[in-house]
Amino acid sequence: MEYTYEFFKASADYVKSIVPYTPEVALILGSCLGPFADTIEDPIVIDYRDIPNFLTTTVESHAGKLIFGTVAGKKVVCMSGRFHSYEGYDFEQLVIPVRLFKLLGVRATILTNAAGAINTSYRPGDIMIVSDHIKLTGASPLRGKNIDKFGPRFFDATYIYTPALRKLAWDCVEGTGLTVHEGVYFFFTGPQFETPAEIRAARLLGGDAAGMSTVTEALTAAHCGMPVLGLSVMTNMAAGVLDRKLTSEEVDETAKTISERFSDYVTKIIGRIGEVEL
Ligand code: HPA
Repeated sequence: MEYTYEFFKASADYVKSIVPYTPEVALILGSCLGPFADTIEDPIVIDYRDIPNFLTTTVESHAGKLIFGTVAGKKVVCMSGRFHSYEGYDFEQLVIPVRLFKLLGVRATILTNAAGAINTSYRPGDIMIVSDHIKLTGASPLRGKNIDKFGPRFFDATYIYTPALRKLAWDCVEGTGLTVHEGVYFFFTGPQFETPAEIRAARLLGGDAAGMSTVTEALTAAHCGMPVLGLSVMTNMAAGVLDRKLTSEEVDETAKTISERFSDYVTKIIGRIGEVEL
């Protein structure tokens, strides 16, 4: 498959033919923020399957719909259901959602995810504003022929997680009832949870939370100059922090407990995003 500018434009042209406005903010929802999608007012829902050159999800808990509408008075587009490399996609395919957002003209993208806490001062249910990431495994989603219309071949990765959006996220914490940290997201390909030794290594290298998503999307955003905010929900202590097995039920359970407060937090951030110069 050759990924040309026209390949991505076909997705955007289809979506533009249905949605009569430009969303200001795009969101990609992790498994912890599914319910947020239900709060979107005046929704216009597009099935991933109907979008030319888009991908379809294989994870049951991920819905597979692009939802346009209004949140806190702002026009948004929200991906309910994201794509992970562990589903079998090529890394190159994982650029598709953020490039769609770029071509739609969105101003900023919020990436949310569930993650395991590597930092032992974090607790399940805490939030981490992503300050940076470490990705030592898997390929770059930007490998292959570069499309100059999106960005340069060699691009800066110093400020992937936009400082002004991180500050806004801090400014919105008060009154949410959430415990918030700022730290480094350590990417693992999954689908297996990490081994305790991998988590110890990640901690030594500077990781605060372990997860299987977000980084490919953030890299795509950095390539095309899209401002990004990353928010991780600590659904569990990472492998080996506690002397017991890790289960996806535990992850889902914490996600469920926190989802309403987290959803309110994200709504608050969206409502104030106009204050930030990007
Ligand atoms: N590791 C990787 N991904 C995750 C975890 C974890 O512990 N918890 C939720 N997503």
